[in-house]
Amino acid sequence: MAVLGIESVVYCVEDLARSVDFFEDFGLRLSERETGRVLFQLPDSAQVIVQRLAEAPIPGSQVRGSGIHEVIWGVDCQQHLDRLVARIESERPVRRDPDGTAHFIIDGGIAMGLRLWPTFRMPATSVDPVNSPGNINRMNVHRRWIARAVPKRIMHVVYMVPEPEICMKFMRDRLDFRLTDVQRGLGLYMRCDGSNDHHTIFFFNSRSPMAGGTGELRFHHCNFHLTDLDEIMAGKLHMERRGWHSSPAGLGRHRIGSALFCYFPCPAGGEAEYGADQDQLDDGWVPRNWDGLFGYLHWAHNSPPYWIEGPNWDVTFHPETIDRPGDIRPRPYHGSPSQVQLADPIKK
Ligand SMILES: [Fe+2]
Repeated sequence: MAVLGIESVVYCVEDLARSVDFFEDFGLRLSERETGRVLFQLPDSAQVIVQRLAEAPIPGSQVRGSGIHEVIWGVDCQQHLDRLVARIESERPVRRDPDGTAHFIIDGGIAMGLRLWPTFRMPATSVDPVNSPGNINRMNVHRRWIARAVPKRIMHVVYMVPEPEICMKFMRDRLDFRLTDVQRGLGLYMRCDGSNDHHTIFFFNSRSPMAGGTGELRFHHCNFHLTDLDEIMAGKLHMERRGWHSSPAGLGRHRIGSALFCYFPCPAGGEAEYGADQDQLDDGWVPRNWDGLFGYLHWAHNSPPYWIEGPNWDVTFHPETIDRPGDIRPRPYHGSPSQVQLADPIKK
């Protein structure tokens, strides 16, 4: 184990005041306010830092527009941090802070960092037992009422990138990330080795029609982990009362990763996502290769037109994880770009 998860994200924004209002209504706890810079602290000790793009850009970041311009990954011990930084430093510049944080630019142009994360603690949560016909788990018990959402941790970040394979290979070969699923034509899901989340980063193909087809490098969204569906919907209602509205799909469940979702257009850039109930994986997981649109959605409150027409039920195990028929033992992925084919047209 080495990289535990996302320790900090740094938003560089055009409208600082509106971004801060949004995150306070979203449920983040403001911990520090300086001139031109505001910090929010999450229950797992992760930080969301919001600063003005014009005054405090991230050196070397090639991300365009407002959004997360740097992701700092938290590492479990000094030995692992030194090993990872030495790998990166052998081939590209690394900028160090007095506290030992190492900053660098990954292949593909995204600014990232590595930092010791001794204060990390996974928040403890519990969910109400579920009743179903013939299966009573909650008798004479009042359901908990929730007034608003309180995000517990940052689960993942998503970037639109023109060449997802280049980014994936850097994360796999330099930072020991695992490829967890392939969404044909749309992108690559990865998790850091110290996390069980289905993905802690997704590289979304910016050349795909679903991403606008621009081929640009842009921030897409950040996912904040909530307890369950009830907290997502309580949070959505609170956001609506405060004048923020969710993206058109509303509440839904992805098929890849299986998580509940609700997105909000965010003045700090891209979207902010409430998420819950995502698949949890370890190294026994076998990556799959999905039809892009089929993998995107299980259901949603407002179904997109292509989903009403009927999805293409197409998913297989990723060929590079299968030694022979009937044997799905996982092993490290070492495929060629052609085996992680992202250029397929989206099937409808
Ligand atoms: Fe997401």
